[in-house]
Amino acid sequence: MSSPYEILGIDPDADEQTLVDAYRKRVKEAHPDHGGSREEFQTVKEAYEAIRDGEADAGATARASQSESPTPSRSPKRARESTTSGDSSAATAPESSQDRPEQTVTVEYLNYEVLDDYGWEVADDDLFEKAGRAELDYEDYGKFVVKNNETLLEAAENRGFAWPFACRGGACTNCAVAIVDGEMPPPVGHILPDEMIEKGIRLSCLAAPVTEHTQVVYNVKHMPGVEELLLSPSRFEKAHSD
Ligand code: FES
Repeated sequence: MSSPYEILGIDPDADEQTLVDAYRKRVKEAHPDHGGSREEFQTVKEAYEAIRDGEADAGATARASQSESPTPSRSPKRARESTTSGDSSAATAPESSQDRPEQTVTVEYLNYEVLDDYGWEVADDDLFEKAGRAELDYEDYGKFVVKNNETLLEAAENRGFAWPFACRGGACTNCAVAIVDGEMPPPVGHILPDEMIEKGIRLSCLAAPVTEHTQVVYNVKHMPGVEELLLSPSRFEKAHSD
């Protein structure tokens, strides 16, 4: 029976950055599209979560090794970094979604496909002003509230939207969004490189906005820099990638 550390190929005293780097490497190798399997993917993910959450003891080992779930699970309401930078080593006090102060967080969203249609850019200063004047369909542009216990993807789904996703585990980038205004701290354990984090790219299956009003462009999986990280959703039983 392999321990979570053996599954990720790191020493028990490895620092957090080593843990994150090992997870990113192993979760790619374990992906069904890269020669792995859903079971292996899930085992790697659970091993990482056990170490991250300080539960990499015998019980956690057994849980990680004996998982029989054939499908990457829906993301738990996981701990989130308390920093907005891509430097996960700075995250010494993880903040769970339940720990976020009670507040109303409103997300103003815009579909990336609309930018293509209108010749707009994510970096346009007046992007959302233009969107507000364009009389777009509600699925392409609008606002909704994100509750404290929801990731952004969960909030979109709970409000009736069908935003893209596949793994729900931070590995495939199908759920990527670009932040135009506001903050959405990146959690530990995602596949995005630091330069993408610095450009405001986040994975909606793991992250949630923390500012009162946040503007995001969703469906950015084909944006340059993000598309290169995209894993096909075809191997995931529950996926929506349109
Ligand atoms: S759904 Fe795969 S990274 Fe979010």
